[in-house]
Amino acid sequence: MTDLIPELKTPTAPAGTGRVRAGMAVSRVDGRAKVTGAAEYAAEIAAPDLAYGVVVSGTVAKGRIKRIDTAAALAVPGVLDVLTHENRPRMRANDLAYKDMTAPGGSPFRPLFSGEIFWSGQPVALVVAETFEAARHAAALVLVTYEIDEHDTNLLASLDKAYKPRPMKAGFTPPSSKGDADAEWRDAPVRVEAEYYNAVEHHNPMEMFASTVVRGADGHLTIYDKTQSSQNSRWYVSHVFGLGKDKVTVRNPYVGGAFGSGLRPQYQLPLAVMGALHLKRSVRVVLTRQQMFSFGHRPETWHKVKLAADRDGKLRAIWHEALQETSRLEDYVEVVVNWSGQLYACEHIHLGYQLVAQDRATPIDMRAPGAVHGVHAMEVAMDELAYALEMDPLALRLKNYAEHNHLEDKPFSSKELRQCYLQGSERFGWKDRPLAPRSMRDGDELVGWGMATGIWDAMVMVARASAVLHADGRLVVSSAATDIGTGTYTVMAMIAAEQLGLPMERVTFQLGDSTLPLAPIEGGSSHVTTVGGGVHGACDKLKATLLKMAQSQAADIFKGRKINQVEFNDGRIHLRGLPDQGIGLSDLLARAGKERVEEKFLMTPQLLKQRKYARAVHSAVFVEVRVNELLGMVRVTRVVSAVAAGRIISAKTAASQVSGAVVWGISEALHEETFTDHRLGRFMNHNFAEYHVAANADIHDIQVIFADEEDRIVSKQLGAKGVGEIGIVGVSAAVANAIFHATGKRLRSTPITPDKILMGDHEVPVGR
Ligand code: MOS
Repeated sequence: MTDLIPELKTPTAPAGTGRVRAGMAVSRVDGRAKVTGAAEYAAEIAAPDLAYGVVVSGTVAKGRIKRIDTAAALAVPGVLDVLTHENRPRMRANDLAYKDMTAPGGSPFRPLFSGEIFWSGQPVALVVAETFEAARHAAALVLVTYEIDEHDTNLLASLDKAYKPRPMKAGFTPPSSKGDADAEWRDAPVRVEAEYYNAVEHHNPMEMFASTVVRGADGHLTIYDKTQSSQNSRWYVSHVFGLGKDKVTVRNPYVGGAFGSGLRPQYQLPLAVMGALHLKRSVRVVLTRQQMFSFGHRPETWHKVKLAADRDGKLRAIWHEALQETSRLEDYVEVVVNWSGQLYACEHIHLGYQLVAQDRATPIDMRAPGAVHGVHAMEVAMDELAYALEMDPLALRLKNYAEHNHLEDKPFSSKELRQCYLQGSERFGWKDRPLAPRSMRDGDELVGWGMATGIWDAMVMVARASAVLHADGRLVVSSAATDIGTGTYTVMAMIAAEQLGLPMERVTFQLGDSTLPLAPIEGGSSHVTTVGGGVHGACDKLKATLLKMAQSQAADIFKGRKINQVEFNDGRIHLRGLPDQGIGLSDLLARAGKERVEEKFLMTPQLLKQRKYARAVHSAVFVEVRVNELLGMVRVTRVVSAVAAGRIISAKTAASQVSGAVVWGISEALHEETFTDHRLGRFMNHNFAEYHVAANADIHDIQVIFADEEDRIVSKQLGAKGVGEIGIVGVSAAVANAIFHATGKRLRSTPITPDKILMGDHEVPVGR
């Protein structure tokens, strides 16, 4: 039985929202709770007898702890204890216990397991006190001395240490090649060749990572955790501490952004659990903004790309190799170069991908991991090729339009990219673009127009959902899904409401609790296809059951009728087109003497069918920049993002996903970079004063277009493909290409900061 869990404070659409259908723009159902503060985040959960944990972060990049002096910290009034590797509660020693649903190959970090240091900023102790203030003060008094080993955090100086990734994580396809790209490149009349580089970025969601562990009298732990999967965190805690499934519940009804940083349980979770187990009371641990820079990040990436074409623009060879940073602990891998093999029609493709291990925390997925950097390099190279050909960059893409996936020789399950190119360029006014750089000026600013193609996976995973119709006519649909701000609550309620023909305010979609029906991590832009498919399936089964009930309770009307001969409308089931020939659903339950009717559905991908197709979402991004060359300042004044992502279910939250991703793409192109002092092996600008994310003043006009597309291979139930990530892919390349068009300066590393604009053509500083 899946019923509403009151503690989750699940939002429902406000009265008057009314009937909805796929494609409508509905305001997010959790909006009011969020802006009024009614929505409680992991760090806001109250518990009687709550103790406060503050993390002590290590200060060296590599070595081991020689000594931890906790005397001064323990002497602070209110301090309950200081947990270190020497006195922590029992934890499993086996690596497998620390593997979560998204762990890459290798040996995951085990917080406070031993005195070994793997990166600067690694947690080395947890101070727990009666108050947050006492804990924070005491944390500053913990004295750690280290035995220091030599570290290496400089990717560009270590490119010669690259190796092929060892065990792969699920979802990673090592790149393959076809034809003879080297030979084609040698012989082709028009060629470009360049190196590209992308700096480290951090996710910086508004909400800091936090876990509040509420310990029940029976020892049961109810953990409010900032995570992209309550079930992933539950699994992790159970395995690390040897606690049965019934001893731990994890909840995440509200998450203030994550962007991939919450795909893996972060270290505050096991630390908070340690505190609760050690002290036998409730404990909360919240990371500071500085500590948000002390776990995974988007790894820095170096690329070499070579493109060759005939004089008419026909691509002869695509050659793309990338080296990417990982940690010593794990082979974190991203799909970086594979996109270059499926973007265009070409028979000679060479792709390569290798890792370089560094003394840093294992990188972690960040919105469109791999594609953001890989497509950047490829799409800037395509712009360079267009100029080598003296050809319009959009015309070059259309000339090489891939009707099928050339690398795998498979048809696409759906691909309306041509619509994106045409509608996007039309909306933008691309046809008026002069080809030559430096040909548009407005006052002190040079104006440039650039474009790029975007691509991302169309993924679907496995999920369960339950749909319960209550006697009072309310529908409650549940799955252990997550809403990291993406609109899950809204889109799932829309799917269920449309299915049952109910006004949206009579439907509640419940998520965010590990005891709810199985759901995957909210990642890979897959929640709509996966959880949405589950919701759709559960509602379908519920409708069939209700029809069966109608056939026995109101046989005169429904006997012998099939599901396609009836309609569900405003809480009634009736014969199609005949509203009077029916019965209220509440009456139906009352006559059957039932308080509730529940149906469950297991959503599984159509794997055999899918295998025959390449499955992707596509986009075309058009960007206008204005560059003040004297100051090196760039303003992105106009963006049109045209996206083909299957059927769009929730028009408003989908458009918000894309425009939000465009904002980040601009930020990635121009602003975001985490700097390392390689002498210390440490990220230095770990705060919002020095790590600049795009602010309101950096963002101007952004328009989102969705192409008309439907994909029943990826999503049999909904025809959808997912929009969470595609919006960021290609944006930085379009910005870089627009800067070239404005200034004639080809800048090959991101972010494109004012110093690079002032410097002019900018090669990648390998070996700096
Ligand atoms: Mo996303 S990087 O799949 O959370």
